[in-house]
Amino acid sequence: MATRKEFLIKSSLAVGAGVLGLSSSAQGGNQASTTAPFRAGGGRLPLAIATWNNLGATNGAWQVFLKGGTALDAVEAGVRVPEADPENQSVGFGGLPDRDGHVTLDACIMDKDGRAGSVCFLENIMHPISVARRVMEKTPHVMMSGEGAFKFAIDNGFKKENLLTEKSKKAWEEWKKESRYAPIVNFENHDTIGMLALDKDNNIAGACTTSGLAYKMHGRVGDSPIIGAGMFCDNEVGGACATGVGELVMKTLGSFLIVELMRQGRTPQMACEEAIHRIVKKQDYQKSQVGFLAVNKNGDIGSYSLQKGFTYTLYANNENKVFDSDYFSKR
Ligand code: GLY
Repeated sequence: MATRKEFLIKSSLAVGAGVLGLSSSAQGGNQASTTAPFRAGGGRLPLAIATWNNLGATNGAWQVFLKGGTALDAVEAGVRVPEADPENQSVGFGGLPDRDGHVTLDACIMDKDGRAGSVCFLENIMHPISVARRVMEKTPHVMMSGEGAFKFAIDNGFKKENLLTEKSKKAWEEWKKESRYAPIVNFENHDTIGMLALDKDNNIAGACTTSGLAYKMHGRVGDSPIIGAGMFCDNEVGGACATGVGELVMKTLGSFLIVELMRQGRTPQMACEEAIHRIVKKQDYQKSQVGFLAVNKNGDIGSYSLQKGFTYTLYANNENKVFDSDYFSKR
């Protein structure tokens, strides 16, 4: 559920989509799938986009841009907002635990030079995205997990914190009564946050962070920390990120696929649709949600999901606004 503050930002900044030149499907019509690209900011920079209603996160990125900051600083600052929000039960602090009661976090980050950092199965650290960035910048590795990632975080000045809020603990105790594992589509209109940004120099960066699927098996890791699955960007082309049931994204390496399709000339919209079609063709998708978001170096945006209900947030041209995504399952 979006916080009250987010809704206030949304209402105060809501503008006619015509100003941004957005298509009718992007305004929330959920009409027939469009493959026409649209220009997010009329080619103007910077911009930040995020999965779901994440106005606070895109605003966090925008504050970095206002100070002339880079896309890398913007995506990190942006996704730290939901990571620290106890009301957001699918990211960071307040995330719903696994079936054994552990909040385990996954995150990854990439910059314009193709550098990448990632953490998975990390516990008790509020900002996994910043640990992922530290892995990228301070180690010869890309990915660190579990105890090793935790020790690395502590050695690098991060604090050990309990991330299981009373609200999430109660929800888990309720779940244990039946212990039925069934990921909920569009959980509270939120899920993993993936963010992509283009800065004033037209350089790209991306970030993705999550507490993963609620009540997953202890040790399960999803798509979010996997470079090319949860997120991928390439400064020659653009970037893509994913949300939803990670198993479906991992089996098709959706974010990498989208960037490669854009490299071959697809618009971001066409590339997102093709990545969803790949899931539909090969996986059992009916009861699951996956949403993809993409941007190319022109600032054209694409989004597409398996099921109705996926939204994304775009901050461009001084406007911060949430849009409905088009989707596959129209039945
Ligand atoms: N997309 C988040 C997860 O599956 O863990």
